[in-house]
Amino acid sequence: MTKIAPSILAADFSKLGAEIADVEQGGADYIHVDVMDGHFVPNITIGPLIVEAVRPHTSLPLDVHLMIENPDQYIPQFRDAGADIISVHVEACPHLHRTVHLIKETGAKAGVVLNPHTPVSMIEHVINDVDLVLLMTVNPGFGGQSFIDAVLPKISRVRQMAEKLGLEIDIEVDGGVKTATAKKCADAGANVLVAGSSVFGQADRKKALEDLRTSL
Ligand code: DX5
Ligand code: ZN
Repeated sequence: MTKIAPSILAADFSKLGAEIADVEQGGADYIHVDVMDGHFVPNITIGPLIVEAVRPHTSLPLDVHLMIENPDQYIPQFRDAGADIISVHVEACPHLHRTVHLIKETGAKAGVVLNPHTPVSMIEHVINDVDLVLLMTVNPGFGGQSFIDAVLPKISRVRQMAEKLGLEIDIEVDGGVKTATAKKCADAGANVLVAGSSVFGQADRKKALEDLRTSL
């Protein structure tokens, strides 16, 4: 079954606990947390303090997407704060294999993320070691951007790679996922959909989640 991971980037930060409870009650599967450092991406968001603050407010897995340089320095802090899945960008990790294993040593699930232009071949030699592959369908940094259709064949490529190797990994897409684009992602082989504005940006989050599922 396709999982939906609302991104708190589009939530009201003045009442984050209630916002997360709202989407959990509405049927969300993961809570997606966008961490940006103002270097790897042109925006600054949140750090481990906020992960720690929201942890008691949900029993859903916290899916932490690190859009930061030198993630190795911060991975243990995010795990200690309560992250269940920690994903790092291929483009930010010169020693990706080491970083993936650092994540796994903390006890978290490890994900690798590809920007829209980064070829799938970049993860060919590490896919056996990961729990999740995240394909960006926008250039990371901001919510509310338009879905990039050119990424769709990459989703199928990763699904084929995983099937060939007998791997049961999550294939997640992030950026511009809404009722008009969700089905294309699921049909291509994605089983986790990150949704920011199309869930937290809507007044009725339960309905927004249902609408996304119905669109599949
Ligand atoms: C973009 C972030 C996304 C963002 C998605 O850099 O990684 O998770 O919150 O927002 P929407 O769904 O509005 O495109
Ligand atoms: Zn994200």
